[in-house]
Amino acid sequence: MSLETETKLITRILPARDVETDIESIKEAAQLLSQGKLVVFPTETVYGIGANALDPDAVAGIFTAKGRPADNPLITHVTSPVDIIPLVKDYPETAKKLAEVFWPGPLTIVLHKNDKIPAITSAGLDTASFRIPSHPVARALIKLSGVPVAAPSANVSGSPSPTTARHCITDLNGRVDMILDGGKCGVGLESTVVSLTGSVPRLLRPGAVTAEALREVLGELEIDASVTARLEEGCVPVSPGMKYRHYAPHAKLSLVHARTEDFICFAGDKSGDGIFFLTFDEDVPLIGSAAVSYGAKDDPAAQARELFSALRRLDEAGAVTVYARAPRKTGVGLAVYNRLLRAAGYDEIYL
Ligand code: TXA
Ligand code: MG
Repeated sequence: MSLETETKLITRILPARDVETDIESIKEAAQLLSQGKLVVFPTETVYGIGANALDPDAVAGIFTAKGRPADNPLITHVTSPVDIIPLVKDYPETAKKLAEVFWPGPLTIVLHKNDKIPAITSAGLDTASFRIPSHPVARALIKLSGVPVAAPSANVSGSPSPTTARHCITDLNGRVDMILDGGKCGVGLESTVVSLTGSVPRLLRPGAVTAEALREVLGELEIDASVTARLEEGCVPVSPGMKYRHYAPHAKLSLVHARTEDFICFAGDKSGDGIFFLTFDEDVPLIGSAAVSYGAKDDPAAQARELFSALRRLDEAGAVTVYARAPRKTGVGLAVYNRLLRAAGYDEIYL
């Protein structure tokens, strides 16, 4: 079904900066969720488009609103591990350990589900993913709704995840019942996804909870090949979301591994109409108006926070070709690298 032919909804946009001041907005949003409607809400990672995870019709609405492929499962958001236990076959020791250290926060855990999670929410898999967000508005909303909340990022499928309410309005106005405006997201990239369904814990998507930090708690952690490389043709990904080109601006993007001097020279050589350079704050004065920054060179947390906004700004600036300077691949940098790599369709240049 094409997105253009969907019935238009009236989307109400309400402020939700603070749980106390904006409690009436949050209560209204919670009531909508309990009635099977769609609500966009802020989390500490990115904005989510939420629906009752246990209501197949409500969840179907998410797939339609986003234009999301039906084989890409959703994360169920709750406020306590106690809410996960009735939905899974097994809540292993490793999950307890991770929950103790990282929840509430930007971590998603994949577990073996039971029949209470409908097939549409888990895209037909026998596993399901869970997250306990730390954002006060998200927590209040989920609690007041009284239901577990399925919520993918609140962007149209394929475009960069939204880190402000404005991004959500651009993508989803007229497709959801309500958007709660909670300001800018603190982390800026989606949660770390770790699967506990195999013999060894496996990192499926890097995020603000780093591989290093997970390893410290778990002792062992495998990093799924799809985190840093394109999947082989015909290979079935552990995380279905990994196979889609994501986070893509309309421009053709290449990821450039270079030292500062080399990148500045490269930018000088390549400059031209519609050509932009996505790079660190420090490089901007050296490149000039064709440069768009995504955080300071040695500040991966800032890069995480700024990246998706910067990708959207490139589209607004009419970029045709973008050369993005590659970040460091350690710590949170691995998550930044993973998103840029996929925005680039795995096109990397080494100078
Ligand atoms: O930070 C986040 O995680 C945000 C906020 C709203 O919480 N949500 C989010 O959801 O990023 P989404 O749907 O955009 O990304 C979920 C990812 C996808 O790559 C999906 O394939 C994977 O998690 N995933 C979900 N359930 C899974 C499962 N059972 N097994 C493997 N991967 C799963
Ligand atoms: Mg997403």
